[in-house]
Amino acid sequence: MKILVTGGAGFIASHIVDRYLQLGHQVVVIDNLSTGRRTNLNPAARFYEVDITDADAIAEVFAAEQPEIVNHHAAQMDVRRSVDEPIFDAHTNVIGSLNVIGSALQVGVEKIIYASTGGAIYGELDYSPADEEHPIRPLSPYGISKHTVEHYLYLYQYLEGLDFTVLRYANVYGPRQNPHGEAGVVAIFGKQMLAGQQPTIFGDGTDTRDYVFVGDVVKANQLAVEAGSGQICNISTAVATSVQEIFDTVAEVSGYQGKAGYAPARPGDVRHNALDSTKAQQLLDWAPQMPLSEGIALTVDYLRESKI
Ligand SMILES: NC(=O)c1ccc[n+]([C@@H]2O[C@H](COP(=O)([O-])OP(=O)(O)OC[C@H]3O[C@@H](n4cnc5c(N)ncnc54)[C@H](O)[C@@H]3O)[C@@H](O)[C@H]2O)c1
Repeated sequence: MKILVTGGAGFIASHIVDRYLQLGHQVVVIDNLSTGRRTNLNPAARFYEVDITDADAIAEVFAAEQPEIVNHHAAQMDVRRSVDEPIFDAHTNVIGSLNVIGSALQVGVEKIIYASTGGAIYGELDYSPADEEHPIRPLSPYGISKHTVEHYLYLYQYLEGLDFTVLRYANVYGPRQNPHGEAGVVAIFGKQMLAGQQPTIFGDGTDTRDYVFVGDVVKANQLAVEAGSGQICNISTAVATSVQEIFDTVAEVSGYQGKAGYAPARPGDVRHNALDSTKAQQLLDWAPQMPLSEGIALTVDYLRESKI
């Protein structure tokens, strides 16, 4: 099949591109390289350096390539930036996604697989782990913009028959995650510890997250090509891990001996998050495989070997 992957120079989607190519699909990548890196690009995929907010350029790529499936990962994914610049966030994540959906409709794409977030749309949890029926109460513009696109996908399936699967990721970690950004605590701590710098924990270290390895996320994107029609699935482990536990595990595998620095919690961050992925098990036959300590070791190995 021909699959167009937006954000394919980024952390998660570059791994998805690699897997789709391994499986024998033809892959086209759209990315503006704002946070993605050229070194992540698989040379076997055709690459268009295009911004999803440029409707005409997106339409041209779709007209030229005529993809059958779209895997949509391009987004501004910095929660803090969304708090500071909500209009930029909405422009990229909502308007950009509408450009992608509009072009997909124009050329008769069969299905869109959409990377949503389970970490940022449920807000503080009423119960844990949260399933897909949990109330949606985003606490950041990012959570709002990512969730909004889910409604458009539902609408265009209803109106135009464009199929979709929404994957709501927990906190994804693994090789190629940007260690210089605001998000991605495993990569950030790993990079700093390897350089002998003291990492900062925002809050008191007791905040918890659900950490899912990028290889497991890739598998969900593989399965969603054939399954999960019209469905929304959490992609998560249901295990709540504290920031302090992450700090301690990264310190152990990187050989860091120092203590953490502590700073006040930041706006936009929820205190606790863990997500139930039973639905993905039932509909996609997906389950997380990677143990956290092993996934962290693989991530630290990557940081040690790469120059990023
Ligand atoms: N990392 C996580 O824990 C996580 C959790 C939930 C959801 N997600 C979603 O997964 C997707 C990928 O995230 P990631 O962690 O790989 O981040 P990333 O920043 O590495 O990937 C995003 C990619 O999109 C590209 N991009 C950004 N704005 C663009 C634009 N206007 N036009 C074209 N390309 C653009 C970037 O250059 C980058 O390559 C995002 O949609 C994000 O919301 C990530």
